[in-house]
Amino acid sequence: MMIIDGIKARLHRDIVADPVLHGLVLNLYLNGEQYPHRVGDYFPLAAVEDPRLEQTVRRHMADEDKHIALYTRAIEKIGQPVHVQPLENIFNSVILRHTPASFALEAGESRDAARLKLAHFFAHLHFLEKRVARSLEYHLDACAHAVSDYPGKVIDAVLRDERGHVRYTRETVTDLLPAREPLYAQSDITVQSRDEPHDIIVDEIIAAMPAHLAAQEENAS
Ligand SMILES: [Fe+2]
Ligand SMILES: [Fe+2]
Repeated sequence: MMIIDGIKARLHRDIVADPVLHGLVLNLYLNGEQYPHRVGDYFPLAAVEDPRLEQTVRRHMADEDKHIALYTRAIEKIGQPVHVQPLENIFNSVILRHTPASFALEAGESRDAARLKLAHFFAHLHFLEKRVARSLEYHLDACAHAVSDYPGKVIDAVLRDERGHVRYTRETVTDLLPAREPLYAQSDITVQSRDEPHDIIVDEIIAAMPAHLAAQEENAS
């Protein structure tokens, strides 16, 4: 086990041990699931030509909607409020800031250009899903120590879906990229794979802790 794994595993345990912090982290996951609905044009279905891929993406979107319901219930079960976070603090936005290639479709674009942008989108999504799945692995282990077993059941179910998303998004990037551009597949298309975005999120949680704890104390007094 790498040192960073031990630190993150410990951080998640400390978070789960405190219902307020646990609620905050479940809210981070929840806000990520809600993000596509808030920005409206997140999944570029219009650029998907393959009916099988369209079906897979629609199933993916339905999974994320199911996760919204599960996280909301988990937050309620531990007696915490549901928060709406500023868009720029949500994991999807943070990952976007670390995604160098644009995938915004523009009018009048050629089919090849649109296909390439679709590959960019799935590369972005793949990295996002991978980071979320890794975070959920830490969190699932930590949930064994939670006051209620419900969040652990939720994380277990969500993680199974997210692993499927990690797999198909990577396969889709490969399928979409022209075979004659193998170098592109290994360089430009690759979003950053280091830990920074996840660490930024963890930093944001830690930075938010005093304000939330102060608010909690004020409410209690
Ligand atoms: Fe999800
Ligand atoms: Fe997902």
